[in-house]
This record gives sequence, C-alpha cells and structure tokens, in this order.
Amino acid sequence: MTSDGPFEVLDVLYASRLRELIEKYGVTQIYHLAAILSAKGEQHPQQAWDINMRGLFNVLEMARDFNLRLFFPSSIAVFGPTTPRVATPQDTITQPTTVYGISKIAGENWCQYFFLKYGVDVRSVRYPGIIGYQSLPGGGTTDYAVEVFHEAVKGNPYTCFLKADMSLPMLYMDDAIRGTLELMEASPSQIRIRTSYNMAGLSFTPAEVTRAIQQYVPGFTVGYEPDFRQQIAESWPSSIDDSAAREDWGWKPVFDLDYMTRDMLSHLADHYLVKLPGLGR
Ligand SMILES: NC(=O)c1ccc[n+]([C@@H]2O[C@H](COP(=O)([O-])OP(=O)(O)OC[C@H]3O[C@@H](n4cnc5c(N)ncnc54)[C@H](O)[C@@H]3O)[C@@H](O)[C@H]2O)c1
Repeated sequence: MTSDGPFEVLDVLYASRLRELIEKYGVTQIYHLAAILSAKGEQHPQQAWDINMRGLFNVLEMARDFNLRLFFPSSIAVFGPTTPRVATPQDTITQPTTVYGISKIAGENWCQYFFLKYGVDVRSVRYPGIIGYQSLPGGGTTDYAVEVFHEAVKGNPYTCFLKADMSLPMLYMDDAIRGTLELMEASPSQIRIRTSYNMAGLSFTPAEVTRAIQQYVPGFTVGYEPDFRQQIAESWPSSIDDSAAREDWGWKPVFDLDYMTRDMLSHLADHYLVKLPGLGR
C-alpha cells in the first residue's frame, strides 16, 4: 500500500494474475499504459509486438468480462510517410513504418471492435510526444524534448539525436493528464470515436525548444547528431488537427512553449537542487 492506494507489480502478459488483481481490488477502470515505445520497438520488434498486442488483448478481455471502462493510449506513430504532415486530420491515411506504429493502429481497431461487438467502453487518444519532469523517458522518438531540460538544468551541453529543424507535435504532461481524465469522465454519449482521438498541444523543433530554454539558462548549448530516430520522426506529422476531441469532449491544451519551459525548469531545478537565476530562483 502506498499513500496513493494499493500498489502491485504485474506483467501485463500474465492474464490470470491480471484477473486476480481485478477481482481482489474490485477494479472499475483500467489505464493501460504498459507498452514498448517507438525507438526501443525498432530494436526489439518481436518483443514490442508481443507486449503491445497481447497486453492490450488481455486488458480488452478483462474490460469485457468485468464491464470495465478502459483507457488505451495510442500515438501519432499510427501515421506514416503517406499521411499529410501538416494539421494531420482525424481520419486520414495510416500506414506506419515502425513496429510500434503498426501495433498502435492495430490496437485502435481492436478497441473499436470490442466496443462494437461487446459494448466495451474503451476510450483512446493519439498522444503526441509527452513532456514531463516526473520521470525520464523510456525509449521514444520524442525523448530528446525531455532529456534536453535535464541537461540544461544540470549545467551540461546536450547532443540531440534529431535535426535542429525537425518539428514534431508535443504535449505537456499536466495537459496530457487533465485531458485524459476529462476523456475518461465524459459521458459515453460524447464519445463518437472508439478508435482513437487526435490530441495536440504544441509543435516545436529542437532549435526552438533550445532557444526557449536559453531565455532562462543563458549559455546552454545543443549539438546535433541525428541517428535512426530522425528517420522515424520524418515519418510522423509536424502538427495535428484535434478538432474532433475539442468538439466531442471539450479538449483544450493550456501550456505553450514558454509556459512549459518555465514549469519544466523550475521543477527540475528543485529536483537537482540547482539555482537558476534566469528564472528568478
Ligand atoms: N511518452 C510519449 O511521448 C508517448 C506518446 C504516445 C503514446 N504513448 C503511450 O503512453 C504509454 C505510456 O508511455 P510512457 O512514455 O510512460 O512509456 P515508458 O516506456 O516510460 O513506460 C512504459 C512502461 O511499460 C512497462 N512495461 C513494459 N512491458 C511490460 C509488461 N509486460 N508488463 C507490465 N509493464 C510493462 C515498462 O516497464 C514501463 O514502465 C504507452 O502505451 C505509450 O505507447 C507515450
């Protein structure tokens, strides 16, 4: 038991244990976050497919059997090089070129299938790159946008694995959590889309976030050594049309680049016990 409630370690592939825990705690909703992300998935494709698909199947079946409400995070990785890159529409071409993207678009369709066939109340958004101070990133293509803040606060230079002008859609963690809870609390009649909603916050390039950080950490420098993740990023949208989410359940992001930068830097300065005079602290 933690101060926030009960805590258990579970391998999501272990369906019988999942069932036991649902029964033990009388679970009514599942936020199914466990997955292997885009960059790590390219290095371990079979494992990524197995965990992302079998994990989802296990929770979908539990949601059906126990009448649970289920949250499934999809991703902008469902899009691919044939998708319109600017203001990517809700309904568009989805021909992803990563194992991760293939697993997420298959997952979206399985979610809709379980809704149509069994009435499972499953809800989903296609997250862009999520930026937060709470944890270090776990193997995605937008990880640079978190790492860059950590290095800036620690007083180090940063080497970015994407090109300076690679624009990608992003979302600050506070917005992501609030939006996700709003989606999950909406009345079922508001949820028109049972595959997954486009969800956008802001778009920026590595050069732009560097300039935003330099406002508060003068002297911070970033070098560029693009690797295989650059190619993944090039197959993804640069901005997202999330009007369906706005219309159906009232989605609206709050954080822009400057607000997010100040919030990230001040939390990380507390975490690393560092003074940032540029932030007035
Ligand atoms: N971070 C992003 O920018 C982003 C963007 C789009 C979608 N998403 C989705 O959001 C979810 C959470 O992403 P994240 O950034 O927290 O990723 P993360 O890599 O930090 O966390 C994923 C977690 O899944 C766990 N996991 C892996 N295999 C497991 C298994 N068999 N059983 C139980 N747990 C297992 C890992 O230990 C890890 O803690 C994922 O589904 C991801 O696809 C994230």
